[in-house]
Order: sequence, then C-alpha cells, then structure tokens
Amino acid sequence: MARINDNYLKLQAGYLFPEISRRVNEFVQANPDANVIRLGIGDVTRPLVPAVLKAFHQGVDEMAEKTTFHGYGPEQGYDWLAQIIIDKAYKPLGVDLKTSEVFISDGSKCDSSNILDIFDLGNKVAIGDPVYPVYNDTNVMVGRSGQINEEGYYDGLVYMPCNEENGFNPYFPSERVDLIYLCYPNNPTGTVATKEQLQAWVDYAIENDAVILFDAAYEAFITEADIPHSIYEIEGAKQCAIEFRSFSKTAGFTGVRCGLTVVPEELLGSTETGEKYSFNKLWNRRQCTKFNGVSYPVQKAAAAVYSDEGWTQVKEIIDFYMGNARIIREGLTAAGIDCFGGINAPYIWLKTPEGMSSWDFFDKLLNECHVVGTPGSGFGPSGEGYFRLSAFGERDNVETAVQRIREKWGK
Ligand code: MLT
Repeated sequence: MARINDNYLKLQAGYLFPEISRRVNEFVQANPDANVIRLGIGDVTRPLVPAVLKAFHQGVDEMAEKTTFHGYGPEQGYDWLAQIIIDKAYKPLGVDLKTSEVFISDGSKCDSSNILDIFDLGNKVAIGDPVYPVYNDTNVMVGRSGQINEEGYYDGLVYMPCNEENGFNPYFPSERVDLIYLCYPNNPTGTVATKEQLQAWVDYAIENDAVILFDAAYEAFITEADIPHSIYEIEGAKQCAIEFRSFSKTAGFTGVRCGLTVVPEELLGSTETGEKYSFNKLWNRRQCTKFNGVSYPVQKAAAAVYSDEGWTQVKEIIDFYMGNARIIREGLTAAGIDCFGGINAPYIWLKTPEGMSSWDFFDKLLNECHVVGTPGSGFGPSGEGYFRLSAFGERDNVETAVQRIREKWGK
C-alpha cells in the first residue's frame, strides 16, 4: 500500500478559510433570512476594470484565429509582460530588474509555497506569529517541522511574535535561521515596515547568510509616501531576497490568477559541498519542469493593468477599498475598540472587546451581528485575542457591519 505523506497529519484541522466558510454555511443554513456580511477572507468584490476586461477579451479572440493563436507560452511568462512590470512597477521605485529575474505565475500563494522546492529541507525557517498560514503549513507539509506543541507552535520552526509591544514588527529570530518570511504590508495585521526597519532585516540577512522571502501582495494598498513597496528599494536586498507580488488584490484577479516572483541573479545559496549557486537558475529549472506558464489571455489582461487607462481604473478601486478600511478603522476606534492596520493595507486588526477569545468573538459576531471576520488565533498563537476584518466589501455592507458592531460593543 502506498504510504501517505505523514507530515500532513501534523497539520491542525482544516485550512483556516475553508473552516470559516464551513461555520458560516452552517449558520446560513440554520438562519436563511439573516443578512450575513462577509468581511472574512480577503477576497475582492469589485469586478475587473474595463481596460483589463477589453485586453482579456482580445486575448481570447486571438486564441480563436490560426494566425494569432498561442500554444504553450514560456514557463517564465511572456517577456513583454515582465518588461511592462519592470518599467511600470519597479523602475518608478528606482529598482532595476532584468526580465530573466521576473517569473510570471498563477499567484503568490502558489509561489510562496512552491519556492520551498529550491531550498534544502535542512534549512531553518523563521515565520511571523501571527502569519499568513500558507508559510507555516507548507513548511509542515514538506517535513521541515515536528509536531505542534501545546502552545500551538510546530517544533523545528522558529516563530517571531508580532504584537503591540513591537508594533507588530517582529524582533530578529531567537536563533540563526536560513529563511525568513516577511510580509509587508502585513497580512493579517495590516501594519507596514519603514525603510529603516527593512534595511535592518536586509543587513541581518546578509550578515547571517539568510534569504528573505518577501511577500508584497498588498503593496498597491500603501497610501503613505515613505513606506517601501518593494524589498529591492532597500540597499543589498538583491543579494538576499526573493519577492512575491500578486494581481489578485491589486486588480481583482483572485478568480483570474496571476502573480509574479522576482528571483535576482545576484542571490546565491550554497551547495552541499559549499560552492555558491544561483537560486534564479534553480527557480527557472523548477518552473520549466513543473509549470507551463499562465494562459495568454490572462497575461494580456495583466499587462493592461499597467496601461494608463488600466492603472487609473484599478487605482480607483484600490482607493475605494481603502475608503472602506478607513470607515472600519475610524468607526471601531470611535467605539472604543483598539484597531491597527487599515492605513496602508486592506486589513484591520482589532483587539476583541471584553477580552474575548478570537473564536468566541467570531461566533458572537456571526450569531448576533451577522458579520463574518477572521479570528486572529487562526493566524498563530500571538493572534489570540485579536480579529481581522477585511476592507474588500461593498460600501453599504461595510457601513452596516461597523454600525452593528458599534451597537453591540460601542462604548
Ligand atoms: C486572506 O484572506 O488572508 C487572503 O485572501 C488569503 C489569500 O490571499 O490566499
């Protein structure tokens, strides 16, 4: 009989978001008339913008003609899309990249998981706590951890608590590590890192021969001028960091699927015998073997995000979501609830009222206010007592949700 990958059995129950959906569906079935407002999973609600849709349609139409049809594309994505991304998303930040360093993919969730393929299992990994669960769970799945302990931490992984004391920016790991996951703007806390804070991480990584896996999926939501959008704005980062980006939240692609990973050619690791080797070459090899690229129409649609028309339209939606974030943050703060994030990110991280546990607050909020959020403890033990609300809803829903919470818990 074939053996299963026993590492999967170390994982706790189900993945966070399906577990939330399960509880919400159960509630909706029992209360079919309830007007449930979903501010849980960070899924966009606004449709694709017209410029993107037009390019998407054109891409599909091209697939219908013999002369413009596209079969397999490059596994790394089309060069023209990589070049547009470099010109429009990186050059304005003062970051110069080659197209060979930009890999187009079907999203940053997949890439931030798949990247583990190119790192030895013996590498020590540091992750935030709370954290986007994918970083934790995928390391457990590949066998980099032991069992979960009583406190909710997996043996063998190094956790970096993010709390009010450190402003949700973790201290350096408590022991030497090889890989460090950083996510800014942060999911779930919605907080950001300054240039100085990121410089400290880059210096630390270089000094300790570590690689930073930098998830910048929410960079488009930054509203403050001096907050870095890319790790490569930081001196030395090309020697020590891989960056993930996504069209999902930026341009409403959660159901379309497109993202990108930057692996600089300067970034080197070491072989078993201590020779230096390029991670860029390894990632290229991995993608060529395990991935067949993103579909042509999707890449056409992604390119249109960066057209003048496309970016104006996309930016309008981002501003709309950030308007929601402000309504949530200001409304709940005025009601006496401690809120963090929501200024440079579409997530508001709040302290549960009356010292409730995250899941107790989830249940109460669902049952009594018919509002869905995400329990902070689902992102890690240090998230206990916190709760995440997403700003991706429709305006009237967001206003109603805030009003219901204020009526129930407002001071
Ligand atoms: C979230 O709600 O944290 C995200 O939507 C999850 C994801 O992007 O995979």
